[in-house]
Amino acid sequence: MEWLRSHLLPPQGSAFAKDIDAIYMAILWLSIVLFVGIVLAMAYFAWRYRYVAGRSTPHQTHNTRLEIIWTVIPILICIGLFFWGINGYMKFAVGPGDAMEVQITAKKWLWQFEYPDGTRSVNEMHIPVNTSVHVVMTSEDVLHDFFVPDMRMKRDIIPGRYTEYWFTPTVVGEHVATCAEYCGKGHSDMHAKLLVDTPEKFADWMATGGDEWKSHSPEEWGHIQYDQKGCATCHSIDGTRSKGPTWKGIWGKPVKLNNGTSVLVDENYVRESMMQPNAKVVDGFEAIMPTFQGLLRENEIRGLVAFIKSLQ
Ligand code: CUA
Repeated sequence: MEWLRSHLLPPQGSAFAKDIDAIYMAILWLSIVLFVGIVLAMAYFAWRYRYVAGRSTPHQTHNTRLEIIWTVIPILICIGLFFWGINGYMKFAVGPGDAMEVQITAKKWLWQFEYPDGTRSVNEMHIPVNTSVHVVMTSEDVLHDFFVPDMRMKRDIIPGRYTEYWFTPTVVGEHVATCAEYCGKGHSDMHAKLLVDTPEKFADWMATGGDEWKSHSPEEWGHIQYDQKGCATCHSIDGTRSKGPTWKGIWGKPVKLNNGTSVLVDENYVRESMMQPNAKVVDGFEAIMPTFQGLLRENEIRGLVAFIKSLQ
């Protein structure tokens, strides 16, 4: 039966996945058995009691034994499923006290992760394998929903409130996290990578933020940030108009702002726009960009500046 499970459900990335899949498959098989049984019985009775000239149905009242059987057995099955389900639910609802806590903030349209030591990242969540992780989530604007299919984790994120969840990743590698609650124009672009690392790699990432940047030119590194940090959701690099101004051909030129003044697009302006996006809003655009204050490392800001510069 494993082939059916692996075709219907995503890979199992957490300790819960097996429990959740087991009850899911049990209910699925129960439904298949009941469906086939009911349809076969219906077909048989339709044939068995078909119209035959001269045959009449004898008077029917009821059959107590049969009625008790078809009432009691389904009730017992439902009670069994309830206890199976509530048992799993309680396990997922109450986490171990020593779980590593990660704060998730959702905003239109990116994910921000914050670790116990203050390390922050955008659209990229690192966690060590076989360690319980407790996520505490909130939103800065509208409803979002953090959905990681491989972890069987899905929970709404509500502005002005915290929702939580915990899980234990068991498979090293990259998993997809996505937003499962329609949250506006950029909803379908609201993805994050969930990277389950070995404990050594995780410790290294916490300490340095990784050294991948060293193996790229600043422009390349900027392009990678553009794709990963959610810039691509609102800024085009080919001149087309999106939710924010395009990045193509803007470097070194003055740009008109919505307060009637204009500003030269240089390192300082670009940096300020990342940290205080509402300080100088380009004419004709809404002030909808979230701040990246504390979310970008110096090498990433440098990369983005170099990337914009290269888009002439
Ligand atoms: Cu955030 Cu949809």
